[in-house]
Amino acid sequence: MDRILVTGGAGFIGSNFVHHLVAATDAQVTVLDKLTYAASRATLAGLPESRVRLVVGDIADAGVVEPLVAEHDAVVHFAAESHNDNSLRDPSPFVQTNLVGTFTLLEAVRKAGARFHHVSTDEVYGDLELDDPERFTEASPYDPSSPYSSTKAGSDLLVRAWVRSFGVQATISNCSNNYGPWQHVEKFIPRQITNVVAGGRPKLYGAGLNVRDWIHTEDHSSAVLTILRSGKIGETYLIGADGERNNLEVVQLILRHFGRPEDDFDHVTDRAGHDLRYAIDATKLRTELGWKPVYCDFESGLAATIDWYVAHEDWWRPHKEAVEAAYAAKGQ
Ligand code: NAD
Ligand code: TYD
Repeated sequence: MDRILVTGGAGFIGSNFVHHLVAATDAQVTVLDKLTYAASRATLAGLPESRVRLVVGDIADAGVVEPLVAEHDAVVHFAAESHNDNSLRDPSPFVQTNLVGTFTLLEAVRKAGARFHHVSTDEVYGDLELDDPERFTEASPYDPSSPYSSTKAGSDLLVRAWVRSFGVQATISNCSNNYGPWQHVEKFIPRQITNVVAGGRPKLYGAGLNVRDWIHTEDHSSAVLTILRSGKIGETYLIGADGERNNLEVVQLILRHFGRPEDDFDHVTDRAGHDLRYAIDATKLRTELGWKPVYCDFESGLAATIDWYVAHEDWWRPHKEAVEAAYAAKGQ
């Protein structure tokens, strides 16, 4: 695979993957990104111009997508509307990008015969009880809760149907919650870090007992590359790094890092339909493809992420006020 098209490559996880790809392979990389509010050209700074180019365009625009896909051997599809809270305010861009956009890409890879990897989320499986001994596996039933997770679930099903009906050469991965540099300040961990840096208090939805299974974005990237290289066509692989923490614990770790009291946060209005717990069993990826995560210590990964946000205030500061105003309008 010499020529790889990465959709959403100017966002949080997609840009990390582009850096990973350039370091780990000799591939020529094209990023197709609409540069929505969630994207940033800064994420791609420092990459060699001879290896990486950015095409600004919409994955739902067949006129852009079809000729571009035809120039590539493989497409790795990260582009999405990605935030649950936004999907509750206005679901329409989620339907357009996550469903129509994925459909448009699938039609293009069908025509071009390109390899396709679809990046998705564990949220397609709904949620687990706190005391459920089982975790999500590739056999778990789909049961999404929000407009975000339901449009991601729909996009996964489109990919499966295009494999079966049209012989598209695709794989799918469903990953747990990512953390690391370049994540938008609207998301949980960056929001809490930047609240503290900006002199405010972390905001915890409800009691804060909801559990997320945290994985460093660099481990997500290495897993996606492993699947792109060795995954079996038509298969789904779950990606996770055994990082379950409840939200209260994460907020307390952040406060402790800054030397602030552990109760120096606000409980705010809970998210409608808030999923209780996500947890991934990544046995298939580990045993069949030999992948393993590197960032196994969440506390030190979080500390490095906090340091990154402190050092990159010029990047997130321009977005902070508007994000907080939108949350405040909903009592969050
Ligand atoms: P993000 O919101 O940070 O980035 C999304 C990128 O997609 C942005 O650069 C944006 O400009 C681009 N984009 C949006 N609509 C587009 C369109 N119509 N055409 C072209 N580009 C468009 O998201 P992220 O957190 O980096 O997530 C990337 C992918 O990983 C998504 O598919 C998401 O569902 C999946 N995922 C995310 C997580 C997580 O914890 N963030 C976990 C599992 C899976
Ligand atoms: P988020 O980063 O939005 O990811 P997801 O909804 O995909 O899991 O939220 C992670 C968890 O943090 C989720 O349980 C909601 C919670 N949360 C808060 O408690 N406070 C906040 O300010 C935000 C944005 C999220």
